[in-house]
Amino acid sequence: MSPESKTEKKTYPPLERVPAHVGIIMDGNGRWAQARGLPRLAGHRAGTDNLRRVLRATAEFGVHVLTIYAFSTENWGRPEDEVHGLMELMERMIDRELPKLHEEGVQIRHIGRLERVPDRLKEKIRHALELTKDNQRLILNVAFNYGGRSEIVDAVRRIIQDGVAAEAVDEALIARYLYTAGLPDPDLIVRTSGELRVSNFLIWQGAYAEYYVTPTYWPDFDKDELYKALVAFNQRERRFGLLPG
Ligand code: FPP
Repeated sequence: MSPESKTEKKTYPPLERVPAHVGIIMDGNGRWAQARGLPRLAGHRAGTDNLRRVLRATAEFGVHVLTIYAFSTENWGRPEDEVHGLMELMERMIDRELPKLHEEGVQIRHIGRLERVPDRLKEKIRHALELTKDNQRLILNVAFNYGGRSEIVDAVRRIIQDGVAAEAVDEALIARYLYTAGLPDPDLIVRTSGELRVSNFLIWQGAYAEYYVTPTYWPDFDKDELYKALVAFNQRERRFGLLPG
């Protein structure tokens, strides 16, 4: 039996609380590859394969919204062949996975700006969003060409364009203008590969999220690791700025 199928058959003690929305900063693909003497893109390929496994595990544990940080507005500054490789991987992932994700009831959403994304990929993303828009089992929110600050800039621009009066601007209104409008804020944000940084990910929505950082590189972050993150979440006392109750 392969290690993967062993993990799939394993049962996990039930969790008292399951976060409705989990965000993941999938970091460490490059280091994973480097540790094996492989090119960085091999790490991104392994990371893409892992995404499929983690997605299924997330749904099995009962999480309703998963936001993944796939490509940041800052990632355009990486070497051209890496950027190109990531665009290609994204395309291939849509081609390969979309029918199955649709069948499994996954609703795909995109957060970020599409403007710099190559036309063919843009079309594939639009098709994936349209095809899956009524699915309800799991919302997969893909942060692609995403930056938390540019999200807030886009929101402010649209608020001004809509002629909203200054007195009408409050937190609820801003939330409605963010890319994540209508979704609950993330309860838990996981970061792999050990860095203690937010990296411009869901900076508004994550204001009260619990953060969980593991040294494990993203391609090795499996169902057991996800379960550990959920257990850690259960051990946290969420206070939302209040006193212990
Ligand atoms: C961070 O690892 C990861 C990324 C920049 C991309 C994450 C993408 C995937 C897991 C694949 C799914 C998404 C696409 C776009 C196909 P890193 O390269 O920063 O790792 P390092 O810090 O070890 O160098």
